[in-house]
Amino acid sequence: MAEPRAQDLPIAPAAGGASLSNGTGTGPSQSANGKASAMAAEAAPVLEVRDLKKHFPVKKGLLRKTVGHVYAVDGVSFTIGRGETVGLVGESGCGKTTVGRTLLRLVEPTSGQILLDGKDVTNLSKNEFRPYRREMQIIFQDPFSSLDPRMTAGQIVSEPLEVHGEGDRSQRRERVAELFRRVGLRPQQMDNFPHQFSGGQRQRIGIARALALNPKLIIGDEPVSALDVSIQAQVINILMDLQKELGLSYLFISHNLAVVEHISHRIAVMYLGRIVEYADKKTIFTAPRHPYTEALLSAVPVPDPRVKRKKIVLDGDVPSPVKPPSGCHFHTRCPIAVARCKEESPALVEKAPGQFAACHLR
Ligand SMILES: Nc1ncnc2c1ncn2[C@@H]1O[C@H](COP(=O)(O)OP(=O)(O)O)[C@@H](O)[C@H]1O
Ligand code: SF4
Ligand SMILES: [Mg+2]
Repeated sequence: MAEPRAQDLPIAPAAGGASLSNGTGTGPSQSANGKASAMAAEAAPVLEVRDLKKHFPVKKGLLRKTVGHVYAVDGVSFTIGRGETVGLVGESGCGKTTVGRTLLRLVEPTSGQILLDGKDVTNLSKNEFRPYRREMQIIFQDPFSSLDPRMTAGQIVSEPLEVHGEGDRSQRRERVAELFRRVGLRPQQMDNFPHQFSGGQRQRIGIARALALNPKLIIGDEPVSALDVSIQAQVINILMDLQKELGLSYLFISHNLAVVEHISHRIAVMYLGRIVEYADKKTIFTAPRHPYTEALLSAVPVPDPRVKRKKIVLDGDVPSPVKPPSGCHFHTRCPIAVARCKEESPALVEKAPGQFAACHLR
């Protein structure tokens, strides 16, 4: 396994997994969501990811020979503290979903380390990983296809309890009723089927299911992207209330920077398999460093009509992660790129206290 490169680590691994704030003396405790962030700063991180890589082989021909790789995740490091939400944003195809799936070991990492509560779980066998796996749950984007249409809502929420042999039938039913109440559904709705619920209600079922085993960390992979804007806010508010009540940590994945604004304490911006900027929310929104963050931010509407943001339109789509551009992956679309950008890959370095960015010029 490759050693993590020091310049890629916006954290202090030697301190047993200190969160970003501990290494710098600033950070979450000074961000907008003070209380939860202060909790995050005190405790060891729930999750620490060190130089995570996932390269999918590209196979061709009868013999299925490997002819290349999809560099979906190419050296990603971050931490999530207790009660903290880290937003992971970037355009479609940047590798966000692969980060989430790799953390859950739904796909095996190519290299790097995943630490849960300080314990390295990267190379545990399936059996050894089981107790850790229940600490991390996922909510998917599409509340229509992610719920089995043949199961009742109650069965869907109860399934993880059954799989892990939790309680007897009546205890499970009681627990499911409690979970329904927690997410704002009526326990009487337990016997209804998914098609009898609205999109927002289905996502509440997904949240209840994710909560069933009392996890520490929930990965939301575009959990509100398929919902109407008015419903999105409701679901985000539920997640924030649950975080306050239960001290949950979230990795909140979205292609839309505006969606992660309300819920996140810190935000990691991803481009073609790498984190290009990482800072607390306020900094990302008021003083971004990376031209890619600026471009994403320029698409976020400003509530005050007197304030105008300069719109930066990026040309074309994200290049293929099979053949990422040389040097800085972003140079083919960057409005301020210079010759050096094509040759040299910029390291993710601390540009201001608690603000990390990978750019030669900024
Ligand atoms: N199982 C897989 N096999 C091969 N390539 C994959 C696989 N899963 C994802 N990819 C590729 O990895 C890249 C990143 O995908 P993904 O993680 O889904 O990005 P995002 O969630 O940011 O849209 C894409 O080019 C995608 O096609
Ligand atoms: S390193 Fe160069 S290409 Fe990359 S973001 Fe900075 S200026 Fe743009
Ligand atoms: Mg995705």
